[in-house]
Formats: sequence, structure tokens, C-alpha cells
Amino acid sequence: PPLIITIDGPGASGKSSVARRIAQALEVPYVSSGLLYRGVAYQVLRYGVNPDDEAAILGLLEAHPVRLVPNTHGNRVLANGEDLTPHLHTAEVDAVVSAVARHPRVRAYVNARLREVPPPFVVEGRDMGTAVFPHAPYKFYLTASPAVRARRRARERADDVAAIEKMLRLRDERDAKQSKPAEDAQVIDTSELTLDQVVGAIMRYLPA
Ligand code: C5P
Repeated sequence: PPLIITIDGPGASGKSSVARRIAQALEVPYVSSGLLYRGVAYQVLRYGVNPDDEAAILGLLEAHPVRLVPNTHGNRVLANGEDLTPHLHTAEVDAVVSAVARHPRVRAYVNARLREVPPPFVVEGRDMGTAVFPHAPYKFYLTASPAVRARRRARERADDVAAIEKMLRLRDERDAKQSKPAEDAQVIDTSELTLDQVVGAIMRYLPA
């Protein structure tokens, strides 16, 4: 089968840092599905579309298709040639993205974009090993306690740790339906591990 490595897990579990490092080690692109959902959410906010209105979101995506540009070091999300990436990791997007991502046709749109990417690649998200790439030969699911995740995220956001933890728990709840480990995924609790240790643990499962 084509080399696809899926890394799933809740927000701030370390997925994107880990996925990037694995991709760099293997010299293959890294693909962030969450960034695509964030791109859709950003457009919803910008154009004043109701996040509960699935048809309106699909209409918006038809008028302004959102594209993912994956590479080894980071991903960009574009719409009409405009780079949305700098706007996607904000508290405003955090607050609305789960509502946008719960619509089946929005998920189908994002999944179609992801399946256009030619393997090999490392892809991270919530349901990469379960729904999107069920035949991937290497699957991982990262977990960490909400407190640990909030502390990690606090290094990237202006808000205080308590507010961040509250938002993470809310997103966990809203994302619960599509965020679980595949039966054949290796589950790694990263609470007590450094980034290097998580990368090392994953590399041991991969072909040399
Ligand atoms: O991974 P990240 O936290 O950037 O993802 C942002 C949001 O996108 C998640 O909270 C979730 O609502 C949505 N998402 C999803 N399925 C994925 C990846 C992300 O629903 N595979």
C-alpha cells in the first residue's frame, strides 16, 4: 500500500509538531487536516455565514474554494490565491471551527481535498486513521491530559491557561464523534513525554 502515516488526537496533543518532525525525518510532505477546517471556519467568519447553515457553507466553498498546500515544514491554506494561513490559529477560529466541522458535507469537502494529495505523506487530524485513510499502513493516536495540553497551547496563544483549557475541553466534546483511535492505531499518551520522545516512539514502528 502507499506510504501514508496517520497521526490523530485531540487539540494540542502534539500532533502537528510530531507529524512535522516525522515528515522531515522521512523527507515526505506533512498534511494538516485541521488547518483546512480552520480555513473553512475563517471564511465562514469573514463572510458572515451562519456556522450552523451547512448549505450556506457549501455555497461559500463553491464560490471561494479552499486549498491546502502541503510541504515538509508546514502547510498553507489558500482561497482565491490569498494565503489565509496567518489567520488560522486564533481564539476566534478555535471558537467556531468545531461547529463548522460537524457538517457531513463540509467533512466530505475537506476529505476530498486530502485524498487529492499524492502519497507518501504524514497526515494529522482527528479521523485520518478511521474515516479518511482507513487503509494507511501506519496509524498513531496521541493523547494527553487537558491540563498538559492547555499548558502547551498557552505557549502559542495570548489567552491564559484556564481559558485555553476550557476551550480545549469544549472542542473535545464537540469533536468527540470524529475523534477516536482506529482499532489498528498505536495509542501514545504524551503527557509525560518530550517531543523527541514521542517522535522516537513513533519512529520505532516505521520502516528504517
Ligand atoms: O487539529 P486542530 O486543533 O487544528 O483542528 C481544528 C479543528 O478542526 C478541530 O477542533 C476539529 O473541530 C476540526 N477537525 C476535524 N477533523 C480533523 C481535523 C480537525 O473535525 N480531522
